[in-house]
Amino acid sequence: MAPRVDLVIFGASGDLAQRKILPSLKRLASPDGMELRIIGAGRTAQSTAHFRDIVKKRSGSQRLAATAVWARIDYKSQTTFAGLKKLLVGAAHVIFYMATPPETSGDIIHTLGQSKLTTKGDPTRRIVVEKPLGHDVESARKLNAQLAKTFEEQQTFRIDHYLAKDTVQNILAFRFSNSLFEPVWNRNLVETIQITVAENEGIGKRAGYYDQNGAVRDIIQNHMLQLLALVTMEPPTTFDAEYVRRAKRAALRAMSPISPSNAVRGQYIGYLDEEAVANDSRRETYAAVRLSMENWRWDGVPIFLRTGKALQRRVTEVVIKLRDAPHLRIGGNRQRGVPSLIVIRIQPDEGITIRIGAKRPGTRFEMVPAGMRLDYKALTKAPLPDAYENVLSEVLAGGHSAFPGAEEIELQWEIVDPLLKSWEAEGHPEPYTRGSWGPQAADDLVAASGGGRWIVSGDEPGTD
Ligand code: BG6
Repeated sequence: MAPRVDLVIFGASGDLAQRKILPSLKRLASPDGMELRIIGAGRTAQSTAHFRDIVKKRSGSQRLAATAVWARIDYKSQTTFAGLKKLLVGAAHVIFYMATPPETSGDIIHTLGQSKLTTKGDPTRRIVVEKPLGHDVESARKLNAQLAKTFEEQQTFRIDHYLAKDTVQNILAFRFSNSLFEPVWNRNLVETIQITVAENEGIGKRAGYYDQNGAVRDIIQNHMLQLLALVTMEPPTTFDAEYVRRAKRAALRAMSPISPSNAVRGQYIGYLDEEAVANDSRRETYAAVRLSMENWRWDGVPIFLRTGKALQRRVTEVVIKLRDAPHLRIGGNRQRGVPSLIVIRIQPDEGITIRIGAKRPGTRFEMVPAGMRLDYKALTKAPLPDAYENVLSEVLAGGHSAFPGAEEIELQWEIVDPLLKSWEAEGHPEPYTRGSWGPQAADDLVAASGGGRWIVSGDEPGTD
């Protein structure tokens, strides 16, 4: 018989499990050589039959639904965990997936250890934790310490679903499998780096989470700093997770903590009317920051990150802007070249564009911006896998390359903490209109500190 893998989802009746985890199991339903069984564990009283209906509906897999089990537990009660332990007898591997609110994590981890559902160092027991991984440096350290009491780092998988996006993983392939780019990838030729994670939707029904966190904690602290680390890190010795993590840690250590004078916060007009948002909330739904890196490769290169809800369109993109050609004299006139851009489009329209200057066809010698584009989707006939599908298949395989390590999470908090503390203490976000690109002050931030202006492909001639 095939070895059985039990996936225990804590908080399986919650939003994350229903929207992301269960649907992504569809194609994983029969991973090679193992039989996956889902155990929903939570405080809700519900029958296994009802849970099976949910699994069927969300994952679309009759096979997974047929074996799924619901276990009602209390996160602090060893007795209820003993019941869960009995269910797990015979499993070759057990994955504990925490799809629960952060305030319950400590209890679950503690009770798992106390009731011997896992022992530290046992490679057949793994834990998956979701963001928020802390609220600031101190709470992130506390969570890491709690995890380390019960699990070895090798057993621990911290999710940053951006790392599991195919196009994000392609950043490493693009940078380090082509010798074409390495010579320009540094302060000598790069004028500025900009990263945009824009969403066109508002916060929907997520005020309970979002109004406590805001754009910096939601996107910059995790997804954007991970993206930036991948874009700026040194080549790893090998692509094994540990070497990639080491290179990312070095990049994160070089990033300057963000000062409030280099940041703009915004709040879309109408946010205060969203369901369950406090009517005097100062929470930011938009943030733009400037930071720098103190190392040989990036010294003096201004780096800009911006993210927001309710913006003009959904786009995640990294723009590397190269310096102008030093000399361009056409006829009697000294001219500015067309700035060259390397644009890594994470989503949608996944791909990479290199924007260069070319001669406009015709009798006159005149420059026009032109683009060379790699369409990522055209490289395969299959649909791109969903990030959660990648996350879960890697956990099942025991690989760590799509997961940030403990120290990365703490370093990321160190970078944003001064800004968060200052924003919490004083000031108000600037209002911006839904469907715009955010507050004017964010444009001023870039203009004033050597970044030119915000660039996003499609708005730039020749980049799409
Ligand atoms: C999540 C944030 O981590 O990422 C959400 O909590 C955000 O607020 C989402 O909408 C964006 O993810 P994606 O994959 O749609 O870019």
